[in-house]
Amino acid sequence: MNILKKRSWDLAEREATPESVFLNRRQILAGLAGSGALLGSGLGLRPAFAEEDPSAGLYPVKRNEVYQLDRDLTAEEIASKYNNFYEFGSHKQIWPAAQDLKIRPWTVTLDGMVDNPQTIDVDDLISKMPLEERLYRHRCVEAWSMAVPWSGFALADLVKLAGPQTGAKYLRFETFLDPSVASGQKQSWYPWPYVEGLTLEEATNELAFIATGVYGKPLAKQFGAPVRLVTPWKYGFKCIKSIVKITFTDQRPVSFWEEIQSSEYGFWANVNPSVPHRRWPQSSERVLGTNERRNTLLYNGYEEQVAYLYKDMKGELLFM
Ligand code: MTE
Repeated sequence: MNILKKRSWDLAEREATPESVFLNRRQILAGLAGSGALLGSGLGLRPAFAEEDPSAGLYPVKRNEVYQLDRDLTAEEIASKYNNFYEFGSHKQIWPAAQDLKIRPWTVTLDGMVDNPQTIDVDDLISKMPLEERLYRHRCVEAWSMAVPWSGFALADLVKLAGPQTGAKYLRFETFLDPSVASGQKQSWYPWPYVEGLTLEEATNELAFIATGVYGKPLAKQFGAPVRLVTPWKYGFKCIKSIVKITFTDQRPVSFWEEIQSSEYGFWANVNPSVPHRRWPQSSERVLGTNERRNTLLYNGYEEQVAYLYKDMKGELLFM
């Protein structure tokens, strides 16, 4: 993501350190670590993945074959080292810093206009839900894309658990707030915590998914452990990470990016190749890993599943 009022700390994707340069640097560091040269230097390498996640025994889960891809899966090594997680920095190589996030104990609060308000331990939540794997495309508003095997459960099942009351129209999602581990949250010009929103109808669409795992393992921290949203027909910024609260409300939530720059990042954020971002086209995308350019698809290729949600909407900016 970058914003119109560009400041020195905001890196556009094309200005970020190229992966090849970064990987080289890492190879050098790894070599030094292997030789013991880093010992005692305070630069010890941190692991890229959560090894001691108590839910590890649950994965891999059975794949739901309904969701097929039109492209290869993105290699785990690539997808897990090129992330947006502004809580840990405004560049793509946040994975080492993200390892500081403590993901247990972790609770998720369901509140607002619901019959069953509750704060539930994440492992209790995961154990209640029918886990499955889904292969989904992911399209970032910055015009890069990947294809990822998420594990988790339908958001509709969580909505059922909460029991929305008549009048509840939206879900407002919130990420943790802890500047002591997430140094990005010390940057007061961002409206922390990260917030996102969906309509109740979108949240109960079959595609809306809560990911608790990826690549056949619990979610690595940089992907938004222990629970994140996945809405593959929308730009990636809707996929809020490390959720602690979901509030059911009759008020449309104002999301993190909408609050920062509402003329560029709206509530709906549905993928549409014919509607350019104010500063770049959205007609094609760069595939992570191969750098192939592909034509972007309406609703990121999920038109059949989601177009009905928007067919009677007039005057809404559905594609930003
Ligand atoms: N959630 C939080 N809490 N913080 C973030 O910075 N970035 C968003 C989204 N969810 C973000 C977030 C953006 S811009 C994208 S493209 C996706 O996460 C990136 O997901 P990935 O790192 O798993 O590819």
